[in-house]
Amino acid sequence: MAEEGLFTEEGLRQVKEKCPAFQSGLPERASFEDFVAQIPKDHPTVKSGIFDVQTAEGRTLYAAFSNIARELEGMEQNGRVATPPILAVEISGPAGVELANAMRESTKQVHRLAERSTFTKRFLRGQLSRQEYRVFLVALFHVYSSLETALQRNAQHPVISMIHFPHELNRVTALLQDLQFYYPEIPTSQLTDPNQTPIPPAVQDYCAAIQEAGDSNPELLVAHSYTRYLGDLSGGQILAKRLKVAILGIDETDPQWDSSEGTAFYAFPNIGNVDEFKTMYRDRLNELHVSTRGAEHIINEAVRAFELNINMFDAMGHMAEAETARSASKDVSPRSSRNPELRATTTRRDLLVVSLVVGVGVAGLMRYRDSTLVRRLASALRDWFHGMRG
Ligand code: HEM
Repeated sequence: MAEEGLFTEEGLRQVKEKCPAFQSGLPERASFEDFVAQIPKDHPTVKSGIFDVQTAEGRTLYAAFSNIARELEGMEQNGRVATPPILAVEISGPAGVELANAMRESTKQVHRLAERSTFTKRFLRGQLSRQEYRVFLVALFHVYSSLETALQRNAQHPVISMIHFPHELNRVTALLQDLQFYYPEIPTSQLTDPNQTPIPPAVQDYCAAIQEAGDSNPELLVAHSYTRYLGDLSGGQILAKRLKVAILGIDETDPQWDSSEGTAFYAFPNIGNVDEFKTMYRDRLNELHVSTRGAEHIINEAVRAFELNINMFDAMGHMAEAETARSASKDVSPRSSRNPELRATTTRRDLLVVSLVVGVGVAGLMRYRDSTLVRRLASALRDWFHGMRG
């Protein structure tokens, strides 16, 4: 068994109290990383975040242990007697902040702003068109694709593993189903390829923020998951009803009401009871082992995540305005129509009118070709023509 002197007495007491794997002392030092790698992801030891507790040096316990294991291994390989360095471990444990409540309180104001954004209000009033909604789905696809990739990459992270529920929450598959439903004429591969369907800057910013969090500070993904998934499980359920009535044209008495065709994004078939799941998720947030500063960062990132959503909604609003303007100009001038059938009919009609005018004009000129006025007109035209050539 490895030396217990690696810990202060209090540090060892806390580790033993928190983690059953340490009950009979410390794990074998040189094989520590193997030991950690063998622990199943959902083992309570890992879920409890024990390896994320911070040492007095501000490193995680995992990093400190790995370092010691490597140092000892190196010393032994060099044929020297291994004298373990002393590590004073102070376990910070859970943030001491009720993260769930703190996030709810801190995002209250910005939540209200999100609810009041023009796009959300129109959605709630059932005023969104099918066209606007499907453009929104493409944006959501990119956001969730970034989020779920980043979460999966950090699935073993002690904080992320606590709030990572891919089976219950992942939305990318549902979004692809909805895209297929609303765009039957366009392959989803084309809609989701940024080279073929450009991503609006506000959506790019949102995806970049998620990717950056995943790459450089995975704990911040807690904020992004909270903002989207708890939102989808809360207000999202109200939006799903609006969608069914206003865009799909079904009401609660219709047999299709319970179908998720066209509303797969809001359906969570792997969650039995949504309220219980949300309570469990909030409990997990409160159990996270993050430092007080870490908790502050997560809370700030949640506010930022709401703002990124508001920017995305505004961008959707602008796209909708542009779409409405295009439709309005279509009504005034059929020439600008993007519909090829209508455009062909218009061109044929225009040609007919021009031919008639020219025909009548030429016939008139032939009839009065001897009149002074027509001769003068012909001469002026000839001069103008020569002038153009000269
Ligand atoms: C359409 C407008 C919206 C309505 C009507 C709405 C409504 C609600 C309601 C009623 C709750 C409380 C649920 C509960 O206590 O169990 C809630 C919570 C929440 N909403 Fe919204 N919401 C809307 C928009 C949004 C947006 C746009 C986001 C973010 C993108 C969002 C994110 C959240 C989050 C994260 C929670 C969980 C709060 C917590 O329990 O900590 N909501 N929403």
